[in-house]
Amino acid sequence: MLHTNSTAIPPVTLHDGRVVAVRSLQPDDKARLLQFGQALPQDDWLYLENDLRSPEIVARLANASNAEHWRQMVAIENDQIAAYASVRLSSGRTSHVATVQLIIGEGWRRIGLGRAMGAVIFDEAKKLQASKVVVEMLEAQRSGQAIFSRLGFRIEGTLVNHARDRFGKHHNLVVMATLVEAVS
Ligand SMILES: CC(C)(COP(=O)(O)OP(=O)(O)OC[C@H]1O[C@@H](n2cnc3c(N)ncnc32)[C@H](O)[C@@H]1OP(=O)(O)O)[C@@H](O)C(=O)NCCC(=O)NCCS
Repeated sequence: MLHTNSTAIPPVTLHDGRVVAVRSLQPDDKARLLQFGQALPQDDWLYLENDLRSPEIVARLANASNAEHWRQMVAIENDQIAAYASVRLSSGRTSHVATVQLIIGEGWRRIGLGRAMGAVIFDEAKKLQASKVVVEMLEAQRSGQAIFSRLGFRIEGTLVNHARDRFGKHHNLVVMATLVEAVS
């Protein structure tokens, strides 16, 4: 089943004055998303569910832009993707639970885009009528934890040595979550 796209999201003005447009990912974003993924710092993709450096994975994501239980949003400036965020409902006994991913392009960090996109994707989770939203990140990822704490998320657990970086070093992952009311 296809979903119709939600109402337009206003542009976001960042702390350095730059303005980005925010919209849903489209099938013709493949090249933009691949360029975004391939420019990410080397370790980022190790911690994320999807390797955005892979043309196959990027094609799968872009082609899923109309999936019923999945929303993918991008921030765009100058025809390039500055940030990618997704939220996906689980299936089976956890079908009320949505999992969020958020990744900001390296040149766009620490100027408020993560916070803005965090709020955008949390709204999308509510539109999916998720009653619980979950996000995982490195324990050391303090800015990510700040973003989701402000949105009402709390740490539900820590997965010890759960992520491995390119040097083989293990890192703890924190699982943050919040319960939400479905939007009518
Ligand atoms: C985590 C990430 C999304 C943050 O994005 P960002 O655009 O840099 O975040 P913002 O500029 O909006 O800053 C978010 C908060 O972190 C704080 N912050 C920024 N840099 C920080 C730092 N180095 N240390 C601690 N806090 C920091 C900001 O003050 C802000 O807090 P506030 O909202 O209370 O003012 C980004 O670094 C990223 O994409 N990392 C790789 C992927 C990842 O780890 N995603 C996490 C969730 S899946």
